[in-house]
Amino acid sequence: MGMRVKQLSQLRNRIVVITGATSGIGAVTAAKLAEAGAVPIITGRSASKLAAMRGRVSGRCGFYELDVTDNADVQRVVDRIATDFGRIDVLVNNAGFGLFERFEDAPLEHFAKMMDTNYMGTVRCAKAVLPYMKSQGNGHIVNIASMAGKLSTAKASGYAATKHAVLGLTNALRAELAPDGIAVSAVNPGPIDTPFLETADPGGGYAASVKGYLLKPAQVADTIVRVIAKRTPEVDLPLSAGIGIRLYGLAPRFADKTLGKLLNRK
Ligand code: NAI
Repeated sequence: MGMRVKQLSQLRNRIVVITGATSGIGAVTAAKLAEAGAVPIITGRSASKLAAMRGRVSGRCGFYELDVTDNADVQRVVDRIATDFGRIDVLVNNAGFGLFERFEDAPLEHFAKMMDTNYMGTVRCAKAVLPYMKSQGNGHIVNIASMAGKLSTAKASGYAATKHAVLGLTNALRAELAPDGIAVSAVNPGPIDTPFLETADPGGGYAASVKGYLLKPAQVADTIVRVIAKRTPEVDLPLSAGIGIRLYGLAPRFADKTLGKLLNRK
């Protein structure tokens, strides 16, 4: 308990920029960071959703319209935040979406749009905060990847590739930026009960088939807050999925044969 309080005290006054923070785990993470005394900078595309977030977050915080697929927008908003708040301690690359479709049915634009948001959005925001973190001699980039970044399943060819890309980026950046005092983390959740699922599979079949396994947004947000406080390099959650992914990596062919049904729920 003492340890936990000490960890959270490290969050006090930290300026934490979160992308896609008006919904799902980004919104809950922002609220929890504020409770821990950090300064969440809530960004998102929708002015009305940003306005609605004002009621959900206490204490010092910021609100900025930001579309992570827009190069100029990312640069301008990050510069603005750095000017307004004096520094950027943490970037949480959370904005993202998935479309669960069979490869042969999915139009090319869906592959490109998911990559532009989930992967290129992360690249853009990381590049924009980097000069500030380097000049501070300190910083932390937290990428919300996914279990789908480690394990591809049917109907996730487009989405899983974006999250594999995010993990590839994360691991390279961690090695590259360590000498600058900048930590780089990945958080890999399994299915979470957020609006993500409605976009991914509007028919609701996927949500129904993983119903018993859904993580609660608060659980994932607690993990993200801990990752920020401890600068943990990587977390898979739930724990069982993390173990499963490791076992899968040891014998993927065998696992496909024995666990095929369990994994392919989309
Ligand atoms: P969500 O849909 O509630 O939140 C995602 C947010 O990103 C939304 O507010 C959305 O408007 C925003 N966004 C999308 N495109 C954007 C853009 N171009 N610019 C700025 N914001 C944009 O869903 P959730 O679950 O909270 O998703 C957060 C992250 O977690 C995503 O990266 C997602 O891929 C990842 N994730 C979600 C899982 C799930 O089952 N819900 C499982 C594993 C990872």
